[in-house]
Amino acid sequence: MNNQNITSLLQEDRLFEPSEQFKQNASMSSKKEYDDIRKLAQEHPLEFWEKQAQNLHWFESWKTILEWDYPHASWFKEGKINASYNCLDRHINSSHKDKIAIYWEGEPGDTKSFTYSELHKQVCKMANGLLSLGIQKGDVVAIYMGMIPEAIIAMLACARIGATHNVIFGGFSSDSLRDRIQDSQAKCLITQDIVFRKGVELSLRQTAQEAVLQCNSIQHTIIFQRTKHQCSVSSDIDILWHELIENQPDNHIAQGFDSEHPLFILYTSGSTGKPKGLLHTTGGYLTQAHYTFTRVFDINNEDIFFCTADIGWITGHSYVTYGPLSAGATILIYEGVLVYPDAHRIWNIIEQYKATILYTAPTAIRTFMKLGDQFPLAHNLSSLRLLGTVGEPINPEAWIWYKSIIGKDMCPIVDTWWQTETGGIMIAPIPGIIATKPGSATLPLPGILANVVHKDGSQCDINEGGYLVIMSPWPGMARTIYGDNERYKKVYWSEYPPNTEHQGYYFTGDGARIDKDGYFWIMGRVDDVVNVSGHRLGTAEVESALVSHPAIAEAAVIAKPDDIKGNVLIAFVTIKKDVNVDINSLKQELKDHVSMHIGSIARPEDIRFTESLPKTRSGKIMRRLLREIISTGIISGDTTTLEDFNVLEHLREEE
Ligand code: PRX
Repeated sequence: MNNQNITSLLQEDRLFEPSEQFKQNASMSSKKEYDDIRKLAQEHPLEFWEKQAQNLHWFESWKTILEWDYPHASWFKEGKINASYNCLDRHINSSHKDKIAIYWEGEPGDTKSFTYSELHKQVCKMANGLLSLGIQKGDVVAIYMGMIPEAIIAMLACARIGATHNVIFGGFSSDSLRDRIQDSQAKCLITQDIVFRKGVELSLRQTAQEAVLQCNSIQHTIIFQRTKHQCSVSSDIDILWHELIENQPDNHIAQGFDSEHPLFILYTSGSTGKPKGLLHTTGGYLTQAHYTFTRVFDINNEDIFFCTADIGWITGHSYVTYGPLSAGATILIYEGVLVYPDAHRIWNIIEQYKATILYTAPTAIRTFMKLGDQFPLAHNLSSLRLLGTVGEPINPEAWIWYKSIIGKDMCPIVDTWWQTETGGIMIAPIPGIIATKPGSATLPLPGILANVVHKDGSQCDINEGGYLVIMSPWPGMARTIYGDNERYKKVYWSEYPPNTEHQGYYFTGDGARIDKDGYFWIMGRVDDVVNVSGHRLGTAEVESALVSHPAIAEAAVIAKPDDIKGNVLIAFVTIKKDVNVDINSLKQELKDHVSMHIGSIARPEDIRFTESLPKTRSGKIMRRLLREIISTGIISGDTTTLEDFNVLEHLREEE
């Protein structure tokens, strides 16, 4: 955590009450009901969470609601639960049996849908298929797929048999895939032949094959055939999805696992070069996913919930799969680029499927806004009743555009703050109750205790910028970093250890302020993690990719604010002595090198060459100075710890 003061420049006083039309149909619009819930959550938090857990099916009830052994939590201990059962069997034994669970549209325009009972059958077949390969409870299964229903089927099949899934974003390179498989020691990989992206067929299978060559733990690769092209197996560990499930029974009796049984590992970036595998367990995670999904999105039986997040991120886990399906909702998912083949695509999908709720990222909203109002205005979007955002701070201008052009001033906006680590939404409005302010995620949800504090843990004043912390354990919290508990303790729990006043605060890595009404304004990361187009990237990861290029000696990567993407990455690099290169072709080569090592989401916008990098006397690169050079061209901060002042002159000349 760096030591800078956090200054907020945003002044935004507009306040929007939920529309009468929304309130009339909202599942929670009575202030009294909300106040009662909030009161219970404040005065008896464990009882509050217990009530939320009771909305799920448990094979056996818990004996203890929470066991807190700083910084490790166990929720609903000794309770037995199955996430897949909660997402499927519960509904097929009810009136939801023939309700659509998933509407899917592929990028080329092909479609599929599954009722709950059809989805149940497919998941059971896959669960039986996995068992037939010898996959057992506790094994890790890597899933490297695009946004197709089969990715959800694969997740639920794992959950059903107690295998822990590790979904890896389909845009990652084979190196990134390899690292995540190796770190989790996955026994099986589920992938697909190709995905469509901007009209191009990308071979996931080929990338997967390259990765698997270096992964001894993988015993089976299951390949789903996305297109009609015949796909063949190329090694004896490969098996085609349809052949695996062909003769499997379409029923499987799910058993209850311990509440703390690992449900999934999901890798995310931190401030070192090595991604962190956050481990989420079953009962607490599902309780929070279910509670937040139903409350924040005000779900009713008729809703069609369109979340544009990829399954490879936490939003795809909690608000494509586990939250919606545990609530028996209908989800709408789309495979490709939202503005492909043109900017009508997303609005066309909403119109065609009559989506009622849209949940997307600010970067997407800014892109739609830039492309022009004529695209959404050409469509009937009157089915929409609620809009959500996630992943990065939303600027008030984009918020207002979203509200007026897409929501026609009828739909509340739920700006939802949370993280891979938190498992579910933490700060967001309850839409029928809480008035919203453009750019603020509003209030912590009932059950969540958040605060903004100084470095020493003392409370910040109203509107004073500080560090966002969570003050008490919550059910959806990650339990550890897979295989690296020390890092878990250090990164999240060492800044604010327990003392006489509290039981330890969770440090989020975000800066924030709280206004006079108690509203939270998230100001972005205070560590070396950057949000690019809503994707979370560690600058250290990109730096280590750059220095793995033979011509590069050192690299420092910083974020530069960008109107559409939120941030773009700028890399400063030094070239090794005695290496003769053409700077322009090296620039291109380095960008490609990063794409190849991590994935195109990490591709730097610009590469700057320099003789050396500004460093403190102890050898730490002073990224703050690089940020200043990029944003202002002037260095105003303290440079007394700088090792070599000349370096700054060289960097400025580069401008
Ligand atoms: O900086 C915050 C930002 O995204 C980070 C978490 O990224 P990730 O783990 O990839 O999860 C993204 C999806 C939940 C946070 O530390 N962030 C997320 N939501 C918001 C946000 N920043 C501002 N406003 C939000 N609503």
